[in-house]
Amino acid sequence: MSATVAIVLAAGKGTRMRSELPKVLHQIAGWSLAEWSVNAALEAGADRCVVVVGHGRERVEGVLRERFGDRVTFALQEEQLGTGHAVRCAVEQRLQRFDGRVLVTYGDCPLIQGPTLAQLLASDAPCALLTTHRDDPTGYGRMVRKDGQIAAIVEHKDATPEQRAICEVNPGLYAFDGGFLQRALEQLDMNNAQGELYLTDLVAMAERVDDFVVPIDEVRGINDRRELAECGELMRRRIAERWASAGAAIEDLGAVYIGADCEVQPDARIDAGVHLRGKTRIESGAHVDVGCVLRDVHVSAGAYLHPYTVAAESQIGAKAQVGPFTHLRPKTNLGEGSKVGNFCETKKTNLGKGSKVNHLAYVGDGEIGEGVNIGAGVIFCNYDGVKKHTTTLEDGVFIGSDSQLVAPITVGQGAYVASGSTITRDVPADALALSRTKQENKEGYASRLRRRMEAAKKKA
Ligand code: UD1
Ligand code: CA
Repeated sequence: MSATVAIVLAAGKGTRMRSELPKVLHQIAGWSLAEWSVNAALEAGADRCVVVVGHGRERVEGVLRERFGDRVTFALQEEQLGTGHAVRCAVEQRLQRFDGRVLVTYGDCPLIQGPTLAQLLASDAPCALLTTHRDDPTGYGRMVRKDGQIAAIVEHKDATPEQRAICEVNPGLYAFDGGFLQRALEQLDMNNAQGELYLTDLVAMAERVDDFVVPIDEVRGINDRRELAECGELMRRRIAERWASAGAAIEDLGAVYIGADCEVQPDARIDAGVHLRGKTRIESGAHVDVGCVLRDVHVSAGAYLHPYTVAAESQIGAKAQVGPFTHLRPKTNLGEGSKVGNFCETKKTNLGKGSKVNHLAYVGDGEIGEGVNIGAGVIFCNYDGVKKHTTTLEDGVFIGSDSQLVAPITVGQGAYVASGSTITRDVPADALALSRTKQENKEGYASRLRRRMEAAKKKA
């Protein structure tokens, strides 16, 4: 098979987005529109992709280079003189004398899938294209058929009233024979209602056009934020359905948000309102309950995240438990069977196998061994205003509730820290550390005190 190339048009500004961000960098399920578009073209079998850029070109190029490396190159279209002009820019700058097949797609059409585009690449007609039907075709190019074959595409602004009644429209996705494309581009002119070079004029020049009718949902383009949200909904659902088909237990397919780079293994359970972002991975048998928001988190088999756990860049070991309402900040690493209960915050901490932080604690910069128990309200004082310091708790340590551990500090194996202590020096193994004032009980004092206070109140 000869080489194939994709041209992705992404030079437009996207004025109707009303945004600082170039249109094609707006995101759906964690990927920008441009990334979805390029990905589909590569999946369809294009060997490389020439992206036509203009508005916000540095940012667009940066995002695409980061994901696709040297499989993408760029062509600059300084002035947007129409889709035909955009393709001409790509050909002149990157595809001189290329005679393989050329796929042409848009950077703002994220729902298109590789296999659908592959049909276009498999055709050997000088021009192959997708078509779709819209109830309201206003604004789109209309498919004009003669004897069943597509004879031309007429832009809305150039169309006669009869042509405007046609509901079969042009989604803007094509494959061309490279030789035909180069010859035909040279013949384009601007004699049309918009004074642009229309790529669509190529259709009437081709001696044969293959067409493939596709459902509208796969070729929705995005012009404004409303369409972005609608496509986002369709994409989210598609992703959730894909994981569900592969065996994931997803409670509500319409109410989970799974990013493009996430993985949900068979028998992992994901409840409503869960957001999985970045490269989050949920292993088999793990359960992520309602409302959890996870970014770049690895949840191991059998772990349970109670509702409303928020976590980032963290590892959750097998059968560990977290939450409800707990925040795991980057570099939290929870060992097998460990537990971080409700209203806790962790950061850059290794929590050993079976260790527990059950309630209302701050655990930052911790090296915590196995079988450690950290009581309610414990705080790791890790920051002295300039530097962060480590708290090390060896295996089997018990930290009583409401203690503060002022780092850097080490509590030796099996040691006890009594409740309410402020620990500022290392504690040797097996010791009991306590740093609080001795308790004094004054018998009968409470009722005396109460009488005194009531008398004072009457006076006033
Ligand atoms: C184009 C088609 C129309 C089709 C519609 C589908 C032409 C002449 N018309 O309409 O038949 O129904 O798409 O959406 O092709 N772009 C550039 N440079 C340009 C012009 C456009 O890169 O000079 C890019 C835009 O960024 C966008 C895409 O091409 O991603 C489509 O451009 P847009 O202006 O939305 O499409 P129309 O030309 O109105
Ligand atoms: Ca236009």
